[in-house]
Amino acid sequence: MQITAKTFGMFQNQEVTEYTLTNTNGVSLSAITYGAIVTKIMTPDKNGQIADITLNVESLEDMVAHRPFYGAAIGRVAGRITDGQFELDGQSYQLDVNEKGNQLHGGPSGLDTKLWSAETKSEDDAASILFTLTSLEGENGYPGNLEVQVEYRLTEKNEWIIQYTAKTDKPTLFNPTNHIYFNLTGDIKQPILDHTLQLASTKYGTLADRNLPTGKLEDSKGTAFDFSEPKRLREAVLSDDSQIKPASGLDHPFVLDQKDQPVQAILSEINSGRRVTMTTNEESVVIFTHNKVMDAYTIKGEPAQPYAGLTLETQALPDAINHPGFGNIELRPEETYHSQTTYRFDTI
Ligand code: GLA
Repeated sequence: MQITAKTFGMFQNQEVTEYTLTNTNGVSLSAITYGAIVTKIMTPDKNGQIADITLNVESLEDMVAHRPFYGAAIGRVAGRITDGQFELDGQSYQLDVNEKGNQLHGGPSGLDTKLWSAETKSEDDAASILFTLTSLEGENGYPGNLEVQVEYRLTEKNEWIIQYTAKTDKPTLFNPTNHIYFNLTGDIKQPILDHTLQLASTKYGTLADRNLPTGKLEDSKGTAFDFSEPKRLREAVLSDDSQIKPASGLDHPFVLDQKDQPVQAILSEINSGRRVTMTTNEESVVIFTHNKVMDAYTIKGEPAQPYAGLTLETQALPDAINHPGFGNIELRPEETYHSQTTYRFDTI
């Protein structure tokens, strides 16, 4: 497996390095030390044509200025925390807020805005980048000094394996994800409406105003949120469903079934023949279909159109700390946090 490195830019007078892992099948993954952001994933289509199947802006300057989250390591807590408030061990906390009075994606200086250290490793059947970061007590309002590692591993089986590990010196919260957006056409001018999605999921979380979870989980069977059989995204994203209309698309958490399920998600696109198969030990996946034009920046020189890509953000359910039954995102000194998500790339 090949590993190359180059300077991607400068952040606060420090060099940002881009590492590229390449296997012998023409699949490569590039990621930078700023925000542990994946800058591209190149895969062949059914005719062997290699293209980038992810969304990202062209420059570090755009990433820093606009924080689009594309491909970024997100935390301490992915998603929204209502009013930036929570209780832990009887103590109330007020986090820094950064979207309509809530905390989104770890706050104004979340993990995606930090310069991580990195080391690479190459083996016969895989190559990896191990990113490491210390998030200090009080950052974005969180208790505890947090040591975080996230490893991106590319294998000769065309798998991108993400492993998060974390330790804290005081009880805190941790619910990370990667904010990758896929567009399997390899052409940013084509929306993802005709991608096909299948999910091992029978429940989804509903949203209220400010895109906040209501705390309710609804059955998806027979609704726009039912992807138990392969379904084109347009049938959901353009539906009149009362949960989809306000968001102009999907921006919802789907509870994942893991019992006896070999995979949790399959995303494919018929013309390129590309397919991504996702397995994870996380309880849910937030699927956001990039529902509006983002006119502050371009992607590969093109406008960032609605439905330019979709995320598969594996995580515990959003705002879990504030909703009983949404899972446990508390991390305590005696514990080590582990999560693993694999995206495998092939063609059909
Ligand atoms: C997540 C949220 C969306 C949006 C994106 C970032 O997917 O659920 O509402 O904020 O992040 O643009």
